[in-house]
Amino acid sequence: MSLIPQRFIDDLLARTDIVEIINERVPLKRSGHEYKACCPFHDEKTPSFYVSPQKQFYHCFGCGAHGTALGFLMDYEHLDFVEAIETLAGQLGLDVPREGGDAAPRRDEGRDALYAALDAAGQWYRQQLSRQPQAIDYLKQRGLDGETAKRFALGYAPAGWDGLLRALGSQHRREHLEETGLLARKDERVYDRFRERIMFPIRDTRGRIIGFGGRVLDDGTPKYLNSNETPLFHKGRELYGLYEARQSRAPLDSMLIVEGYMDVIGLAQLGVNNAVATLGTATTRDHLQRLFRIVDRLVFCFDGDRAGRQAAWRALEQTIPIMADGREAVFLFLPDGEDPDSFVRQHGREAFDRLLREATPLSRFLLDELTERHPGATMEARAALLHEAQGLLHELDDGALKTQLVDALALETHINPERVAQTLRSEPKATGGDARRPTVNRSQSVHRTPIRTAIALLLAHPQLTAGLPEMDELPSGEGIQGLPLLHELLETVRDNPNITTAGLLERWRGRPELPHLTRLLEWTVIQGDEALAAEFRDAIERIREQHVSQRLDALLAHARRHELDAAQKQELSALLAQTRSARRD
Ligand code: UTP
Ligand code: MN
Repeated sequence: MSLIPQRFIDDLLARTDIVEIINERVPLKRSGHEYKACCPFHDEKTPSFYVSPQKQFYHCFGCGAHGTALGFLMDYEHLDFVEAIETLAGQLGLDVPREGGDAAPRRDEGRDALYAALDAAGQWYRQQLSRQPQAIDYLKQRGLDGETAKRFALGYAPAGWDGLLRALGSQHRREHLEETGLLARKDERVYDRFRERIMFPIRDTRGRIIGFGGRVLDDGTPKYLNSNETPLFHKGRELYGLYEARQSRAPLDSMLIVEGYMDVIGLAQLGVNNAVATLGTATTRDHLQRLFRIVDRLVFCFDGDRAGRQAAWRALEQTIPIMADGREAVFLFLPDGEDPDSFVRQHGREAFDRLLREATPLSRFLLDELTERHPGATMEARAALLHEAQGLLHELDDGALKTQLVDALALETHINPERVAQTLRSEPKATGGDARRPTVNRSQSVHRTPIRTAIALLLAHPQLTAGLPEMDELPSGEGIQGLPLLHELLETVRDNPNITTAGLLERWRGRPELPHLTRLLEWTVIQGDEALAAEFRDAIERIREQHVSQRLDALLAHARRHELDAAQKQELSALLAQTRSARRD
């Protein structure tokens, strides 16, 4: 695939106004230097979503969503990076150039053509359903009414190998139909992928069809056939029913995560409009992040059997790292052999509501499972329990939830709470090869160091360093944490004097430092140029001091055992002179 030149992205971001981009989608009100609105990523009545024209950055103090104009488009419209770039460029009337650019201009047109083909297929399947009594009977016999079938735009793919191809072939190019996964190919033969199946269109949050699931009417296999991965359809990311849930009138305060298409639909028919299903895959962190942006409470629905509890445990592992005070996750276990669809049909809505009220909080499920996994009152069992808890909880944000879990674990293991707290703050020692996970500092209150201050200021005001001679005094080297990152930022600014905050951040997209950078950016407040420059100078000075004292310590330690060579002696006297002059100031 061809690449979009970095310069074009910088330039695009420099010419884009985040206020304008967001305001077109979420009307903003002015508030001092910033703009605000009710957050589009979670439900709220008083605005905590702020957009800063100066930083070209948005931030929600309610749910923590934040990012640049590009990030906003990606999250709000569920676009990928390239699509978001194309959207911004389109608004400015620019063509997106490609490096190594083959198929460059085709792409945009191509995507539109894919959406159009999927939409046409959805219509055709719906039409076919109305002509197929046995398919309608199947849905009726499963208790579905016409209104619900319509709401979810259900259809039917008839028997035969080329019905869809013949119906759509004159309006849509065959390669587009193939690319959407509507047609399959075996050697030279192209044929309808979906045949004799009830069709469930899968829509993105804008309501555009991006793929289908198709169910057999009998016990044929596979029971469900899904669209393959296409440029528009990524199974691990999409949630069935999310569009329909967001269309429903009632405000969403929680979301239910169920396993099947029919569970979403069966619940919706009885007025439970907030259920979504993954597409036959396990729940990923990406899914959960998306849902937590919309609501603060997630309800996982699983079978009460062993497999169900195992699936629930995997969901718990994905959830813990993104839990925060204010967010809640609960687990609803259904009676053996039932799924939400069969349960509501048999026992009714009220019985389901009762299960909802009795759902197990994440903390309870966690503690119950841990004690079940490590039974017995031996020291060994308790140590093993704490070790497993550590693996899960060291990633959990410090907060009231963690504090309570610490107390509960202390009680359970008879280990002093201080000690439990200390254990849960550190990463467990890897037991064997690659058990280590990347560590990201997730704590809300990051300790202010001179390096962090300098990085935050530079990010918020990339032009800050232009007239500062002090930059020459910034030491280099690996000794101080974050120093290489500060240098890299400075170089980027030096090479791109007009770069904006957003432009800088976008260069770090996909790199492990990005969450850190955005968190630092949230510290900065808008202040006058003078004050900024002074604060920045001060931070640089303190980094220099830190560097000097580290080098001094190192050289003096060395001198205790070995004779210093000429270069080292020279460095030592220069360093000593610097500390003397610093003390005189
Ligand atoms: P289930 O087998 O629990 O399906 O699979 P269900 O939704 O209860 O189906 P009904 O009630 O028998 O119609 C749950 C989900 O797993 C995926 C589908 O997304 C399904 O909704 N799945 C299942 C597949 O992708 N392929 C299969 O063959 C089976
Ligand atoms: Mn079912």
